[in-house]
Amino acid sequence: MKRIVFLAVVLAALMAQATVTPLYLDETAPLEQRIDDLLPRLTLDEKLAIIHAQSKFSSAGVPRLGIPTFWTDDGPHGVRPDVLWDEWEQAGATNDSCVAFPALTCLAATWNPAMAHRYGVALGEEARYRGKDMILGPGVNIYRTPLNGRNFEYMGEDPYLASIMVVPYVQGLQSQGVAACVKHYALNNNELFRHTTNVIIDDRALHEIYLPAFKAAVQQGHAWGIMGAYNLYKNIHNCHNPYLLNDILKRDWGFDGVVVSDWGGAHDTEQAIRYGLDLEFGTWTNGLSEGARNAYDNYYLALPYKRLIEQGKYTTRELDEKVRRVLRLFMRTTLRDYRPRGSMCSADHYDAARTIAGEGIVLLQNKGGVLPIDTRRVRRVLVVGENAIKMMTVGGGSSSLKVQREVLPLDGLKARLQRDGIEVDYARGYVGDTTGAYNGVTTGQNLVDHRTPAQLIDDAVSKARQADAVVFFGGLNKSNHQDAEEYDREDYGLPYGQNEVIEALAKANKNLVVVNISGNAVAMPWRDRVPAIVQGWFIGSEAGNALADVLVGDVNPSGKLPFTWPERLQDVGAHAVGDYPGTKRTGEDIWDEEYREGLYVGYRWVDKAKTRPAFAFGHGLSYTTFTLGKAVVSSNHITAADSLTVTVPVTNTGSCAGAEVVQLYVRDVKSSMPRPAKELKGFKKVYLQPGQTAQVSITIGRDALSYYDDTRHQWVAEPGDFELLLGTASDRLPVKAKFTLE
Ligand code: GLC
Repeated sequence: MKRIVFLAVVLAALMAQATVTPLYLDETAPLEQRIDDLLPRLTLDEKLAIIHAQSKFSSAGVPRLGIPTFWTDDGPHGVRPDVLWDEWEQAGATNDSCVAFPALTCLAATWNPAMAHRYGVALGEEARYRGKDMILGPGVNIYRTPLNGRNFEYMGEDPYLASIMVVPYVQGLQSQGVAACVKHYALNNNELFRHTTNVIIDDRALHEIYLPAFKAAVQQGHAWGIMGAYNLYKNIHNCHNPYLLNDILKRDWGFDGVVVSDWGGAHDTEQAIRYGLDLEFGTWTNGLSEGARNAYDNYYLALPYKRLIEQGKYTTRELDEKVRRVLRLFMRTTLRDYRPRGSMCSADHYDAARTIAGEGIVLLQNKGGVLPIDTRRVRRVLVVGENAIKMMTVGGGSSSLKVQREVLPLDGLKARLQRDGIEVDYARGYVGDTTGAYNGVTTGQNLVDHRTPAQLIDDAVSKARQADAVVFFGGLNKSNHQDAEEYDREDYGLPYGQNEVIEALAKANKNLVVVNISGNAVAMPWRDRVPAIVQGWFIGSEAGNALADVLVGDVNPSGKLPFTWPERLQDVGAHAVGDYPGTKRTGEDIWDEEYREGLYVGYRWVDKAKTRPAFAFGHGLSYTTFTLGKAVVSSNHITAADSLTVTVPVTNTGSCAGAEVVQLYVRDVKSSMPRPAKELKGFKKVYLQPGQTAQVSITIGRDALSYYDDTRHQWVAEPGDFELLLGTASDRLPVKAKFTLE
């Protein structure tokens, strides 16, 4: 009897086992087998449903098979407020106010990959808590012109710096089970005519300058998503482009994730089918731009695609390839049994924002030791400028946020100085843009001031005369034609008459500090008459606290410029030889923009054209001083298979602790193809107490020596002599070493 009972129990258990978890839901099974199990279970309609949007920021799952809706959200600096189903307007929720982290140019300016990882983790936690499965970021388009409205969302002018900084951000974000969607792939380097610009560029510049950060995000970061850009390359829209998507991204780089269109970036069903688009979002198809609502079935990869299959024009071969990638994305996100719960507006997130900003703020100039503000000596400080009181987290396009709080520069600095009994006064100085709303999010500020520019300057000057120190907060903002999506600046200078205010303040008080809040370089004609200049970036929720930390010396600045700061626009390759913004084709709404400067972007152009920038790529001062000793190389002769390590001692020769960034540039002494005079191929940030010396070692391999041979379509490290240049800025490289590649 017992045996029968036993067998019955075993049988029941086996029966139960047989009906429970289908392979695709079994997380212990290999990913590709789970996809093989799931794909044939989907009907044609279900396959089509998951490759295009169903609302402004979501795409369908497969409810019948227990596969949830897939939620995306902007943006690279924080999780955008929830919007109405089919609107850009915010839904007016009261539980989606987030932490705004510093803009990515500030992150890049830290030159500290650990900051990028912490950034990605914190953003991933906020995204998870908000139920998002993909963040539409980070952006890594190369800073080609200081007029580009979206440079604040990107990581500067150098492909190596952007490559090193994007990888840990992607890894941190995805460690939380949230997909990155690295954007905008590719060649979206200005906003003017972004939907209709056809970029013409040589293969070397494409591969050596504009693609490396995307390649690193894919091959080292293992990004689960890539966003196609709006513009065209070789006359085909980048959201379905055979060269960039099928050949380079998927074939050559081995990308196994999903290509997401930018919102409205798809333009043609058959191109979308054949040229690499996997997930179509935000498309205005068949006149959907303003009219039809909830017409997601009209998307190019929706009913029009189904009709072509039903007509026999296409099998499901291409469809199944797209579906495989989307299912793989599901298994990395929505189909994971356990993903971290996330957290929102935590003390850790505010600390992350403040710490990253503190490492990214750049001390550009500091004559006469005006900084840090000596809280023992000064008794009264005057703060001037609209950017001291204007919120910067609202506006600027899709990266706009609804924050739980944003500490403004005036408030942060006042709170810090008053702790030492210092009196803080304020003068507007100038009136710029008093608006403060975007997609239904409003700052709630009333910045209206009816005084004339002369009255504002007189008020500021009379107060400046009474102060021991003056701190001017100016720069750009997130308004159209400033640092904002869809627009470029129309000139390089500071707007709103700020130059006049700065000149007047410089005459009224010799202890003047100018803090420039922007994501772009700006003209500084008053540079020689202002003792201290700080690049303050768009810092987000902790702006005022992070700026105060640096201005009073609680934090010793260690940021380095991620882009060259030209004196004039003419000193930029894109403007000197152009041909920004390109030329309109006759009879077509297409602008051909030829990147005639080729490889020579940023400091590469400085070296070629022998221009003199106001501040160099990699420049940034400290409140202490550092010296570098002689370099030692691990070998003077290497083969292409070897790596080489260069070691240099760095000493803190000043009076306070601080961090320095040792930068390594490589010069190919003689090459059969033209190459930039030097290129950044290594860096390391080191923290030192006063008097401390550290041995900083940087290892490079053949990648650091190679260039892209566009005749052989491959990377080539040519034998011959190479020179290593080490220092603390691209224009301060005192340490040299040589070696030969066999
Ligand atoms: C925008 C931007 C893109 C953003 C998307 C969704 O047009 O180009 O960066 O993620 O649409 O807002």
